[in-house]
Amino acid sequence: MERTFVMFKPDCLERGLVGRILTRFEEKGLRLVAMKMLRVTPALAKQHYAEHVEKPFYAGLEEFITASPVVATIFEGPEVVRVVREMLGATSGLKAAAGTIRGDYSSSRQMNLVHASDSPESAAREIGIYFKADEIQSWDPSLACWYQAPGEA
Ligand code: CMP
Repeated sequence: MERTFVMFKPDCLERGLVGRILTRFEEKGLRLVAMKMLRVTPALAKQHYAEHVEKPFYAGLEEFITASPVVATIFEGPEVVRVVREMLGATSGLKAAAGTIRGDYSSSRQMNLVHASDSPESAAREIGIYFKADEIQSWDPSLACWYQAPGEA
């Protein structure tokens, strides 16, 4: 079973879209195993977005991501890293396909509502930045047997 880090960004909270987007992941059958609200500091932003710190858009990204609270989550499921990235759509809301989360709700490259890990390795790194081991729940929802056949998970 794979895990991915999913963060509802400040624009998502400011626009009151957390519940609506969280519902899409729940309805898909992804298992929520951790969730907390926090404020990203400039230092945390530099750690999370280390690969973007030298990019021209980084200053704007840091200003945006620290502007309001975020909701950090971990979802679990088979191939969940790829599944969530496909549900989000392309980075820019202007390019994301209709029917994806960004395609339906974002019209910005920067304000794209939700961050999700791009690989299992990134997921492990990002989960380690935002969560302690005892903040993550291992649990088996009663209805899991109605989301995947035996042997699929
Ligand atoms: P995310 O998936 O969180 O990863 C890096 C973030 O940087 C991205 O979503 C956007 O919020 C932002 N970003 C990526 N490319 C650009 C860009 N060209 N201009 C502004 N912001 C960007």
